[in-house]
Amino acid sequence: MAIHRVAQLGHPAIRSKATPVLNSEIGTQEFKRLVSDLIDTMRDYGGVGIAAPQIRVTKRLFVIEVRDASRYRNAEPFPLTVVLNPSLTLEGTEQETEWEGCLSIEGLRGQVPRSTHVLLKGLDAEGAPLTLELEGFPAIVAQHEFDHLDGLVYLDRMTGMSSLTFLNEFQRYHRAQAPERPSD
Ligand code: NI
Repeated sequence: MAIHRVAQLGHPAIRSKATPVLNSEIGTQEFKRLVSDLIDTMRDYGGVGIAAPQIRVTKRLFVIEVRDASRYRNAEPFPLTVVLNPSLTLEGTEQETEWEGCLSIEGLRGQVPRSTHVLLKGLDAEGAPLTLELEGFPAIVAQHEFDHLDGLVYLDRMTGMSSLTFLNEFQRYHRAQAPERPSD
């Protein structure tokens, strides 16, 4: 198990366009290690998703997992999902605006409009085709992680900077919009 230090905004990998995972890589020890490192790092940082560029590997894969859904508004647990070479299609015109943060932009939160429904296709960790219809919170996470593969961060998706908030102030003034966390 290897936990990586997550690259922060300003690191070139965060603004790079990632390259496709090659078929010949899938199944190799090195690739399996990359996938497990991504998972370990996401869990250690308490994230709900992470993309490979965030650990300085500019390849097109990300992982999503929601274990403690109580931290987020309108969220439910979502199983660990690894996606290689994803395509993402926004479905319909419905959008919702939610607070987002990013492991590569420590200490900030901002409100971001995202599509409510998306179709996510790609390959799973073993290279088998994967198709997921996502709605609500997992759809938001998928859009956020997919953007990382094109060098985009949630700041680029905000309609303005006026909601941008430091974490302390978010917890003090804005968290009331989210349900109370059970004591943990
Ligand atoms: Ni992020």
